[in-house]
Amino acid sequence: MQPQANRIEDIRSHFPALERVHSGHPVAYFDGPGGTQVPRSVVEVMNDYLYNHNANTHWGYPTSNETDELIQDARVTFADFLNASSDEIVFGQNMSSLTFHLARALGRGVEPGDEMIVTELDHHANVDTWRSLEKERGVTIRVLPMDAESGQLELADLPALLNKRTKLVAVGAASNAIGTISDVAAVCRQARDAGALSFVDAVHFAPHKLIDVDAIGCDFLACSAYKFYGPHIGILFGRRDLLESIDFPKLRSAPDNSPDRVETGTQSHESIVGAAAAVDFIASLGSGTNRRERLANAFSDMHSRDEELIATLRNGLSSIEGVRVYGPGIDAARTSLVSFTVGDHLSKDVSKYLTGKGIFASHGDFYAATVVERLGVARQGLLRIGCSIYTTAGEVERLIEGVRDFVSEHR
Ligand SMILES: Cc1ncc(COP(=O)(O)O)c(C=O)c1O
Repeated sequence: MQPQANRIEDIRSHFPALERVHSGHPVAYFDGPGGTQVPRSVVEVMNDYLYNHNANTHWGYPTSNETDELIQDARVTFADFLNASSDEIVFGQNMSSLTFHLARALGRGVEPGDEMIVTELDHHANVDTWRSLEKERGVTIRVLPMDAESGQLELADLPALLNKRTKLVAVGAASNAIGTISDVAAVCRQARDAGALSFVDAVHFAPHKLIDVDAIGCDFLACSAYKFYGPHIGILFGRRDLLESIDFPKLRSAPDNSPDRVETGTQSHESIVGAAAAVDFIASLGSGTNRRERLANAFSDMHSRDEELIATLRNGLSSIEGVRVYGPGIDAARTSLVSFTVGDHLSKDVSKYLTGKGIFASHGDFYAATVVERLGVARQGLLRIGCSIYTTAGEVERLIEGVRDFVSEHR
């Protein structure tokens, strides 16, 4: 293994965006939970597809055959990424669209008064998608609460929410607002025992921990490649028997085999090959005899770095007067994301100040609207700092100094 400093420099050398300078400062991207930067290899694969293999699928000529093969290869790559089978991998525009599509399809099979469970901790792409069935199908939505102090789901409340009418439990693997990692395997087990389906939103989890749909025991899981160094595209895992049997809205003459029957219209082929290249980029950072092993090794390495960065970040920010850090402590299961407020300042203003120092961080509610309401910061919003594979300890120090400067200039 290379020494840490050389290794991070090597990783960074793959990302042209890291050469950007803003107001005389090298840009430090802390907006990974909103979308990560993209390595050269991903863009090259996308260019190559568009220049040399571009076609629609399922026809008899070479570029169409190549497109079919590349898409199938990408399904195999994502099967390795999620520990699934290639015919359980569905591509789509993004997680929200895929989830709406699935909700609409599952909605065709529910009765008024059937129930679904969502959580307070989730991004609303895993809440409002299911809530749409309240109006459309008369589904009753029940809500698993979060504890605002610890930033954890109140898992002990789940059994009381489950009953014979529960059709689905929708839960997030990691919070994109405060970084909590939830025990989704336990949630999926309880859903299964109650005869309900489970849907896991792994969008914020996927860049930080290697997903294993088998170990999680979920029926469905969604993630988005643009959060883990790929292009803007979503990926849905669904258990084969479900993908084959659910009544998905589709065109009469579109393929009826799984997973094609779930994919509406022509896909972004260049994004599919780019997403697979992003998985291969991560795998290239690890060692092992096959892709899954290399991914496991790379993720374990990333996780160790994440832990170091989160400790510096959380401790550093907490030590600044007026800064309030939200979410789980460093000993809890969590990602390398810290959200905070500075006194009564709007998070937008703190973000703007940091931008002047070349520090790019996102602010607001990040579509996790219930989380910011429960934390009592809906008006001022959170400032969110997310570490990525290319984040350095030096950038974290710069960020902490930047917030310290903001506080001393706004006394
Ligand atoms: C946890 C989480 N879930 C869902 C989404 C929505 O993903 P998409 O933009 O692919 O629809 C996001 C996007 O930020 C997210 O962070």
